[in-house]
Formats: sequence, C-alpha cells, structure tokens
Amino acid sequence: MTTTASVQIARLKQAAQARIGTARALPMSLYDDPELLVLEMEQIFRTSWICVGRMEQVEHPGDWFTVEIAGEPVVVVRGMDGRLRALSTICRHRYFTVAEGRGHSTRFTCPYHLWTYELDGRLRGAPHMGDVCDVDGQPTRLPEFHVDTWLGFIFVSLASAPPPLLDSVGGAEQYLKNYDIVSWRVIPWVDEVWPGNWKLAMETALEGYHVTGLHPGTIDTFMPSRSARFQATAADWTLFRLDTLYEKNFEALRSYAQRMPEGEDRTSAPQFGFFPNCAVSCSQMSSVWLTFLPIDHQSTRVIGGNLVPSDYFEFLQARPDAVQPHVDVVNALNAQDARAMVNLQKNVRSRFAAPGLLSEKERNLLCFYRYLYRKLGGERVHESLPQSENPHDP
Ligand code: FES
Ligand SMILES: [Fe+2]
Repeated sequence: MTTTASVQIARLKQAAQARIGTARALPMSLYDDPELLVLEMEQIFRTSWICVGRMEQVEHPGDWFTVEIAGEPVVVVRGMDGRLRALSTICRHRYFTVAEGRGHSTRFTCPYHLWTYELDGRLRGAPHMGDVCDVDGQPTRLPEFHVDTWLGFIFVSLASAPPPLLDSVGGAEQYLKNYDIVSWRVIPWVDEVWPGNWKLAMETALEGYHVTGLHPGTIDTFMPSRSARFQATAADWTLFRLDTLYEKNFEALRSYAQRMPEGEDRTSAPQFGFFPNCAVSCSQMSSVWLTFLPIDHQSTRVIGGNLVPSDYFEFLQARPDAVQPHVDVVNALNAQDARAMVNLQKNVRSRFAAPGLLSEKERNLLCFYRYLYRKLGGERVHESLPQSENPHDP
C-alpha cells in the first residue's frame, strides 16, 4: 500500500470507529485521491458482487448488454442454451472489444479481424487462420465471470471464487416481502455520467436527510426528510425508511399502498444501500435502482432505472401520454442528486472544508464507512466497540 493510501485508511478508521453523536463525515481528501481509488478497485470492486442489471435485459436467448467493472469490460448474455453468463469482451486475438452497448445476436464478431465467438464464449472461427480454436490443447474462449441473480437483479463478481451472493444481500429480502420486485419492470432506464467520486454518489442514496433540501417538487412532496429513520443494517447492506404521505394527493400511490398488509409497509417504504455501490429506494408503487460505477476518482457512471409494478408498466405501455410525465419526474430527481455531485466535487480541494457532524438521520453513512474500512484492510469495527447489541448497529 502506498503512503498516501495508508494515511487515507487511518482517516477512514477514525471516521468508522466513531458513534452517532460524535461521528463526522469522511475527510474530503478521501473523495479526491486516485491512489485510494486503485485500492478500492482492487479490494472492493474486483472482489465484490456488483449489481449490473435486471433480468428483463436478457430475457431471451441471444440478448446481451455490456458494463464495465473496475476497468474490466463485461458482457452479460443469455446463451442459446438459455444460461446466463458474464464474459470478458476482450478479443483473444489482439484485444479489441467484441461487444459494446447492448444487442441481440447469435454470436459475437470482433470488428477488428472478424474472429467470432459463441455466446458461451467459445471461439468459433478466425478468418484465414485455419483452426485456432484449440491451440496447444487449450480451448480459446472469452474469460467467464461469476454471475447470479436476486429479486430480478443481476450481479457479477470478478473474483475467482466469490462467496455466495446471499452472503452479501441475505436478510434484506425480509424487508421486501410485501413487494414483488422480481416482477417489476423498468421505465425509464438510467445511464449517465456524474462528475463526482463514486462514494459521494453512494452517500447521497444512503440517507433521507437531504430529501427536503435537494428534492423539492419531487420526492419531498410525499417522502419528506422529517420521516427518515434508520431501520437495520448487515455487513454488506444498510436500510432506512421514509414515510409515504399519499393521503391528500397521489391517488395511484395510495391505491398501491392499500394493497399492502396493515403495518409499516402501508405507510412507509424501505430505502436500501447494497454495498459497495448499489441503492434501491422504494415507494409502494415505484423503486429507483441505481448502481454507481467509478470511471476515475472524480467521475462515476450511474446505471439503473425506475422499477414499477408490472400492471403499472402495462398501463404505461398502453398510454404513451402517461409515460413522459413519469419519465420527467425520474429525470428531475436524478438531476437533483447529480447537482449535489457537481457541487460537492467542486469543493473537495478547499483548504477550509472540514468534516461536519453526522445527524441521526445519517446513521447509514456510518455503516458505509465501516464497510469501507473493513474492505480496505481494517478490522471489523463493531468488535472493538462496547455497548452494541446488534453487531452491525452503529
Ligand atoms: S483483435 Fe479481435 S479479431 Fe483481431
Ligand atoms: Fe437524493
């Protein structure tokens, strides 16, 4: 580890070991450090399960889409055999990218010299080269990564032998038991670049304290900051809730809420952060899923979408006039969060910026700091802290 990185880890340790009441934001330098990002890529993004998409993107054999994780270009593809796979897109000839964007095809053809691959990654042919498919007894194929699904979300891990996905997300499903997220469909999709460090983007999704300030006219009208409260956490995820105030307006939301059984799911909704870089923020009739993929230490690709129940999806499909207002709201609230990115990243080099106290409504940020500290080489903070009944509860 470089000297700079070890200084940053020491700062992270200090932030992670605090308790709400005295806990402070991370020092700004942690959001502006290319050396720290190298460590994060190595120890977080190349070892963890990363949420990259939804099953509906690869519903049929031949469907595929691409994503980049820690600098590795990956294609997620439904093979002709019906199996879901995640493959490297780097050609085994001279490194050209064999698939970009998304598409539907029966094979991948590298545009450089036209080597072709089956959708399971096997080399099918190389023009003018005879049989190079099996050189030295080694089949030539695109490297394959681990892929798994949970509630309709697709996760990929670059690790050679990752722990089961459920080790990371397990336990969270109990808070979604009244939602049928697996059948929800995306409208619209999100694919943007935000000019800020990936941790800043993730933190915006981890607390509801900012809703009234940053989301007037959108989320604040029915899920205001005053209702934000910590609910639960585990090693790799954290959860807060927001009340959904639909009584006076929001007829559609009210009708979906009333389908919920009596209890907290009727009047409030879960807001998840799945570490390292995924957020799923719900109301009873809509959920915004976002994944924050670092491009470099000061820019982040944001992919995701607005999930809606399948019957509402069908209603929107049949009523094009209803789609645009829906899309406008989703775009507006993402623009509101992106605005925070632009602003915060602009301030990271200030000599006078100092970490301020976290509010009780930002308890989930502390969970994130502890996750980061654990992944970047520190011990699990709760083990050294007294007075904790829930081992993950800050
Ligand atoms: S680099 Fe792909 S065919 Fe040459
Ligand atoms: Fe926000």
